[in-house]
Amino acid sequence: MASAIIIALLAITHSGLAQYTKFPEGFTFGVATAAHQIEGAWNVSGKSENVWDRLSHTRPWMIADGTNGDVACDSYNRYQEDVDALAHIGVDFYRFSLSWSRILPTGRVDFVNPDGIRYYNALLDALAEKNIEPLVTLFHWDLPQTLQDLGGWANPKMIDYFRDYSDLCFREFGDRIKSWITFNEPYEICEDAYGDDKKAPAIDSHGVGNYLCSDTLLKAHAESYHLYNETYRPTQNGRIQISINSIWYEPADPENAEQVALAEVANQFKFGWFAHPIFTEAGGYPTVMVENVALQSKAEGLPKPRLEQFDDYWIKRIRGTSDFLGINHYTTHLITGAGVDPIAKSPSWLKDIGAVTSLKVGTDSASEWLRVVPTGFANFLRWCKSSYNDPPIYITENGFSDRGTLLDYGRIKYFNDYLSEILNVIYDDGVNILGYTIWTLMDNFEWRAGFSERFGLYKVDITDPSLPRTPKLSVEYWKQLCATRELPQEDRFKEPALPLKKSEL
Ligand SMILES: *[C@@H]1O[C@H](CO)[C@@H](O)[C@H](O)[C@H]1NC(C)=O
Ligand SMILES: *[C@@H]1O[C@H](CO)[C@@H](O)[C@H](O)[C@H]1NC(C)=O
Repeated sequence: MASAIIIALLAITHSGLAQYTKFPEGFTFGVATAAHQIEGAWNVSGKSENVWDRLSHTRPWMIADGTNGDVACDSYNRYQEDVDALAHIGVDFYRFSLSWSRILPTGRVDFVNPDGIRYYNALLDALAEKNIEPLVTLFHWDLPQTLQDLGGWANPKMIDYFRDYSDLCFREFGDRIKSWITFNEPYEICEDAYGDDKKAPAIDSHGVGNYLCSDTLLKAHAESYHLYNETYRPTQNGRIQISINSIWYEPADPENAEQVALAEVANQFKFGWFAHPIFTEAGGYPTVMVENVALQSKAEGLPKPRLEQFDDYWIKRIRGTSDFLGINHYTTHLITGAGVDPIAKSPSWLKDIGAVTSLKVGTDSASEWLRVVPTGFANFLRWCKSSYNDPPIYITENGFSDRGTLLDYGRIKYFNDYLSEILNVIYDDGVNILGYTIWTLMDNFEWRAGFSERFGLYKVDITDPSLPRTPKLSVEYWKQLCATRELPQEDRFKEPALPLKKSEL
């Protein structure tokens, strides 16, 4: 780390604190999207219905603005515009996801849709043309409805279906894709979609479906990893990982020992749920999680805990199955005390934690859940280093929502402050972070928020049939950052103080 510290440029901020601005040699930058949020073309050329098509069509009141992904940003037809935008920004890589229902309309490999293969080949060729590396997610939430009808991730048979789908993707695209992500945000898949109704298919089997899902998902991830590791890596030489999202929990009062202990429990329940089985020596779910759910389950009169620990075979099979720790991070929430959170259903993951959470931290965004707390990111990254034996880390998502303004100073400030914390932990704490991914290229179908919360670097006018993409100020910020590998310091990226009114002159 010493040489990295020496090459780091130090700038003295107004507060007098040293602040790093230059990224280490070899650090890479990219932008992320997800198929269902941008592709559109939901029912053309053989693509079948996925769980988000089903939810937004049959329960449109569950989408904040009643929109859906039928057209979205029409990237199925306009992918060249996306690639041109990526080239304009100057990123090293593009993180996108494959639509399972576009490639395999039945969900199984008994019929491979030639148009699905053609589409992703065309996108990969367009990226290669501009020297942009693909980082590709196999599953970003859009399960074929045919497989949901069989129970989706609550059905252990999904381990085989996911392995078969992975196999096909490695075989068809692995000559050009050298970086794979199996699952995007397992917590959101299992807790939000099976343990709640916050994401499709909105099963809301709280305290039960969420844990059935994690059992299947972690096994499916491991099988996909081993398949790649044994069968494809020897010739394709790529890497494969999982990307886990975390809301980082901090004690409201850092001096309060009970809150400090409970925040650790909450972090084990949130991030540790999926990270502990893969990234620790011991493997399996975090002990505190197994114990808490067992106690709650007993109190509920159940003969067996709602969360079952993996057996020895699966503990070993899952352990170590990620070449990097992929982290999606946006925000920090607070823990204010012990007990049942007033918003917790019964039974539920939140009730199982046994702590009360609060959003009263940082500043706001357009998303209720997204509080801006840069220092929380630094604390979380240091925690990952110590909890998971100093893993190599890729930040695979980070970003900010507003209502779509072109002068997006709030977004720029968010990026700048969060990136600054990344530099702090790289240089001061030796956290091994290798790359960073912006969420997201353009305003898109933000799941249940529809188009009401906007995370894009480009504005997309969805009322205009040609769906024009207009660069926001953050495009300029990122263009400069990618060219110089330094945090831009110019005043034009800082929100101007309000101009004086005539009467004040
Ligand atoms: C596809 O869906 C659109 C609505 O998004 C509908 O208007 C159109 O008729 C559908 N096409 C087919 C072939 O079903
Ligand atoms: C991946 O394959 C290599 C080479 O066969 C092997 O040494 C390693 O243990 C495998 N990784 C895992 C996590 O099984």
